[in-house]
Amino acid sequence: MSANNRPLGHQTTYDSAFLKACRREPVPHTPVWFMRQAGRSLPEYLKVREGIPMLESCMRPDLVTEITLQPVRRHKVDAAIYFSDIVVPLKAIGIDLDIKPGVGPVVAEPIRTRADLARLRDLSPEDVWYVTEAMGMLTGELGGTPLIGFAGAPFTLASYLVEGGPSRNHENTKALMYGDPQLWADLLDRLAEITAAFLKIQIEAGASAVQLFDSWVGALAPADYRRSVMPASVKVFEAVASYGVPRIHFGVGTGELLGLMGEAGADVVGVDWRVPLDEAARRVGPGKALQGNLDPAVLFSTPEAVESKTREVLDAAAGLDGHVFNLGHGVLPTTDPDALTRLVAYVHERTAR
Ligand code: CP3
Repeated sequence: MSANNRPLGHQTTYDSAFLKACRREPVPHTPVWFMRQAGRSLPEYLKVREGIPMLESCMRPDLVTEITLQPVRRHKVDAAIYFSDIVVPLKAIGIDLDIKPGVGPVVAEPIRTRADLARLRDLSPEDVWYVTEAMGMLTGELGGTPLIGFAGAPFTLASYLVEGGPSRNHENTKALMYGDPQLWADLLDRLAEITAAFLKIQIEAGASAVQLFDSWVGALAPADYRRSVMPASVKVFEAVASYGVPRIHFGVGTGELLGLMGEAGADVVGVDWRVPLDEAARRVGPGKALQGNLDPAVLFSTPEAVESKTREVLDAAAGLDGHVFNLGHGVLPTTDPDALTRLVAYVHERTAR
């Protein structure tokens, strides 16, 4: 039996509220998890990470296991997300990069020419042995709670590689996309192959859903997305379709792209807080579950305001086939963890059927 349908006590992973919602089946309550649920908002995270650089911590299965489990224990979320970063597979194939605290991923030598493409070699399971090992430990520890694997989408990875680090306007990335469309297409295709390989490794190691993070794709107009980015994202989703695990597609500022993101092939589309979920459902089209979409900044307000904004999200989602409650982007590092714990309980209570 695979990790995805192994019986574990009274509840199997397959029958979890999270996977049911992803499949648009009836659920006992609306499932909840948070992007960046593991991380700096948790004192227990800061404690175990003390003195250990981010990328090094991603390569230590014992630490990855502990950090992934921390928010599950504390908040009683309906899914765990594997602790790693979108640049881990790039580091694993030998790209010289680091994650600088308070900054993000920084690439020593940006990728901008055809010759640079050769540095993006295939990813094999041995390159990320620690992922397979940690996922094995995790699926054992998690019982019936599903484990979400993830990867960065080709556009968002390309932005870091071409810019050499985080970027507000993505000017070098767009310069390449418009100035040398063939090189751009080849770069995205290469990244799609690496990303697909990375997701397959995670599914085979026990991930029961995968999320493709295209965090910065909202920087593009729909026509550019369709022409220059969508083919690579389609390739990633097609590559993992036969596993039958739900595929989630998320980006920020994607209001104008939701229809195309639905077309790209995911089973679940993640929505940020700028578009209400009923309107998002119209844009995405039928046959997809939605994930989202409380503004992460709302958690800095009063408990009453958090509840009222949460009711707005749940009301907008009331007519949907499948809804996974999440924030519209990651947990902000200074969020009060108790506000997150209360939010999980509130969503469960309000939606219990
Ligand atoms: O969601 C989770 O709990 C799983 C862990 C996770 C991390 N990064 C851990 C991390 C996930 C899913 C990511 C994905 C990721 N990484 C994305 C896509 C999601 C998103 O937020 O849009 C992006 C764009 C990155 C790139 C990246 N890595 C950024 C922008 C940063 C923040 C830099 C900073 O210090 O503010 C990172 C570092 C990072 N990745 C941290 C964590 C917990 C912080 C490092 C630390 O704790 O020292």
